[in-house]
Amino acid sequence: MAAARPVPPRLLLPLLVLAAGPGSGPPRVRAYFPEERWNPESGLRPPRVTIAVLARNAAHALPAALGALERLRHPKERTALWVAVDHSVDNTTAVLREWLGGVRGLYHRVEWRPMEEPR
Ligand SMILES: *[C@@H]1O[C@H](CO)[C@@H](O)[C@H](O)[C@H]1NC(C)=O
Repeated sequence: MAAARPVPPRLLLPLLVLAAGPGSGPPRVRAYFPEERWNPESGLRPPRVTIAVLARNAAHALPAALGALERLRHPKERTALWVAVDHSVDNTTAVLREWLGGVRGLYHRVEWRPMEEPR
């Protein structure tokens, strides 16, 4: 029986929260009580979050990682994706390309940066 080999985590899923600078948000509402300062969300506002997905030889881990990403409760239309793959020898690029084809229209913006060669 072959000894189990530890699989190093190859999928980095950092969340880059790009905070908008002061003045780029909605106009400040002056109010005393916190509930008076509440502003409704608007579909026209720019995304507040960019998620970078950097993957290499991660085809085995992608279904779980992408499923978790899809289940995030942040509105997709206010989320941008930046997805890069490089030097993979497994099916990482094909899996991500297919997934992005299905979800592209849901997100505010999708940047796809594949690099196949050199392996
Ligand atoms: C690679 O992934 C694509 C997209 O999910 C799939 O259609 C294809 O069958 C996969 N190929 C292999 C060798 O697993």
